[in-house]
Amino acid sequence: MSESEPRIESFFAVPVAHAQMEQHEGLCDELESLFLEKESNGDEFRHQKYIDTMHGELFESRFDLFRWPDPPVRRLTAWCHDRLARVVQDLNGYDDEAMASMRFDYHAWFHITRKHGYQGQHNHPNASWSGIFCVHPGDVVAERPDSGLVRFHDPRTHIDMYSDSGNRQLRPPWIMGTCDWRHRRGQLVLFPSYLRHEIYPYLGDRPRIVVAFNCWINRVGQRPHAVPTHDD
Ligand SMILES: [Fe+2]
Repeated sequence: MSESEPRIESFFAVPVAHAQMEQHEGLCDELESLFLEKESNGDEFRHQKYIDTMHGELFESRFDLFRWPDPPVRRLTAWCHDRLARVVQDLNGYDDEAMASMRFDYHAWFHITRKHGYQGQHNHPNASWSGIFCVHPGDVVAERPDSGLVRFHDPRTHIDMYSDSGNRQLRPPWIMGTCDWRHRRGQLVLFPSYLRHEIYPYLGDRPRIVVAFNCWINRVGQRPHAVPTHDD
């Protein structure tokens, strides 16, 4: 066997996918109008459970958004599902027949964040995949580029046990610590639900609006591994 350079493999990598919707402006405008109207109805469409990571001016809708009959929501739901299904098929190596036997269940909601609203670090239990679709990222605050930023945290909780010149400048995908994500209008980011993340305080004036969802996936006819209720 001949000698060779060391080969580098990646173990335990975290897949994060993103997709940009084409011609998203019209749909995002429709979604924004719809969500602002629902928000103005007081608590009718508000998720009623207290969540201790949400702070300040942050409206969270009920979790049944992907079942709403409103045409713009139907279009968004279909688009997000299509993108997630492609990622699941690709990463798991499922063929079309296997995909046809799967049932995707969702909890989905919208968030409207106003000035100084933010969300502390959390993950999304009882799901395999989560996503955030940006309806409008809000104002750019030039002096505070962290405004409304999404920060993902390294799931290897022991990763900071030691740092020196041997690991301080690791290149992607071997970076350690945190990764920041800035929303763009009409863009979807998909990530494993275990991945902890937080939303930095939003400091702009116009509403920052996103749709978020969790998905759990089982074969049709198979007893679901976990079925959260809409009260979760
Ligand atoms: Fe989240």
